[in-house]
Amino acid sequence: MSGKIFHQWVDVYDLLVDWQRRLEREGPLFQRLFEQTGVRRVLDVACGPGYHAALFHRWGLEVEGADVSEAMIQRAIALHGQMPGLRWTVRAFQEPVPEPGYFDAAICIGNSLALAGDKTTAAEAVRQMMRAVRPGGLVVIQVLNLVALPEGQLLWQKCLAACIGGQPKLILKGLHRVGNRALVELLLVDLSRGDRAAFETSDQTLSQSEGGRAIPASDLSALFHPDHGTPLRWQAQTEQLLGFLSEELQQMARQAGADQMIVYGGYPEQPYHALTSQDLILVAWRSQNPAECSSENRSTKI
Ligand SMILES: C[S@@+](CC[C@H](N)C(=O)[O-])C[C@H]1O[C@@H](n2cnc3c(N)ncnc32)[C@H](O)[C@@H]1O
Repeated sequence: MSGKIFHQWVDVYDLLVDWQRRLEREGPLFQRLFEQTGVRRVLDVACGPGYHAALFHRWGLEVEGADVSEAMIQRAIALHGQMPGLRWTVRAFQEPVPEPGYFDAAICIGNSLALAGDKTTAAEAVRQMMRAVRPGGLVVIQVLNLVALPEGQLLWQKCLAACIGGQPKLILKGLHRVGNRALVELLLVDLSRGDRAAFETSDQTLSQSEGGRAIPASDLSALFHPDHGTPLRWQAQTEQLLGFLSEELQQMARQAGADQMIVYGGYPEQPYHALTSQDLILVAWRSQNPAECSSENRSTKI
């Protein structure tokens, strides 16, 4: 499964994000676009723990949150509940929605499209989002603008201590760009002293960090305990992220039936600069012309 890092570490992802701050920063763009497009029904693909879907529901919209990870969907249900106008489903973004054209808007944010695994799957996901919305409907995709990141260097983005499963943990998140891809690294360190046997039987290595070199567990032991005292236990996960160019994402949307597009470089509506923008946010509207946006037509043209 793509995105298995998030499937296995739902707690970690939930803790890593300051949801209130994020919703305050990202909400206004969606509010404006939804009003402008007359949106009443929203599909949030790769919804994760569902904070955006729940926000849209609080705005009075009918919302479906979909994610490939059952664990994420279970977390979303536990956090926000299921009720009329707010439903959750396990579905990959490249899979067809049961009722094409039902939604007024489909969004895929939080760099989720970068987890598609390859560009063909990403293009299919864009096509399915466009197919999910009515003619004139809105599609919003946000990915990281990888080009703006320095190449080769492991950037530690987040470090926080938290209690997970009753145990104190240190969570570290790093990002490492390699060409037009990146590796996201998550390291979970158990801050309660562990026993050496449990540590040594761990088959995890901190892969691809520090210029692509895998760091063996023995090195990490020394890293955490230079005095060779009781080592800490840790787990690591790595996930590959795709990088997208603005033109490439626009091309995917155009081929899927979009006829109007705007690209932003960050929330709320920062201009996009290819070499410096943190984000690549594509806002696209499905063509009003049914002939142009028929998914059957499109699939033969691509
Ligand atoms: C970084 S989280 C983002 C979650 C949420 N959209 C947000 O902005 O916080 C990425 C999510 O993408 C999901 N994901 C990965 N591959 C997917 C796929 N092929 N189809 C649907 N969801 C996928 C993961 O399960 C995870 O919940």
